[in-house]
Amino acid sequence: MIIKWLGHSAFQIITNYNLKILIDPFISNNPTSPLTAEELNADLILVTHGHQDHFGDTMEIANRTGALIIANHETSIFLSKQGLNTQGMNIGGSMDVQDIEVTMVNANHSSGLDFMDETADGGIACGYILKLENGRKIYHSGDTGIFGDMKMVIRDIYQPNIVLLPIGDLYTMGIEEAAIAADWISPEVLIPMHYNTFPLIEQNPLEFAEMVESLNPNINVVIMEPGEFYEE
Ligand code: NI
Ligand code: MN
Repeated sequence: MIIKWLGHSAFQIITNYNLKILIDPFISNNPTSPLTAEELNADLILVTHGHQDHFGDTMEIANRTGALIIANHETSIFLSKQGLNTQGMNIGGSMDVQDIEVTMVNANHSSGLDFMDETADGGIACGYILKLENGRKIYHSGDTGIFGDMKMVIRDIYQPNIVLLPIGDLYTMGIEEAAIAADWISPEVLIPMHYNTFPLIEQNPLEFAEMVESLNPNINVVIMEPGEFYEE
């Protein structure tokens, strides 16, 4: 399985059985993206919320590839009206997609569909837990502030092994909150995201890694450059 960072909160996950998953494919307008949207293939696209830096190229990629788009109920209704292959979910629900299980979890953020000329109700923002065919669990938090259920629900119930958290501050947690959230969840691997895409969310990931190390030295903070990947 590989988890490739496409910059910002965009990731490509390819499972051992070659299921191609994109999360928040913000590519064309992403100044840090290592590739173009046309180069991406997907079987499944997960959207955490409607903001353009997450929804990004979802429609174009889905149109071209026929990928299934999972999003919150309201965004999914909007996508189905555009003729796309989509399944709406809501917080706490799970569904199987081939040999993985996708669970939608809470995020503390908004979800306006601000990328469209027409306005549509974007529902609420979410995160996702992916349970792979080998039992490994990946948590992509989407944009969020820190919230207590990272302890009570994310850790105690789902126990993800690999966690992707925003550290850019301003729109999401900053490095202090994200380090505490990391300690609360206590994954094996922590990959920071949503930073250094734009000047407003500049952060030093090494400083974040030091904070995590001092709180919980068992967590392996994996800092990547866009285009690099984590593999196991
Ligand atoms: Ni957002
Ligand atoms: Mn964002």
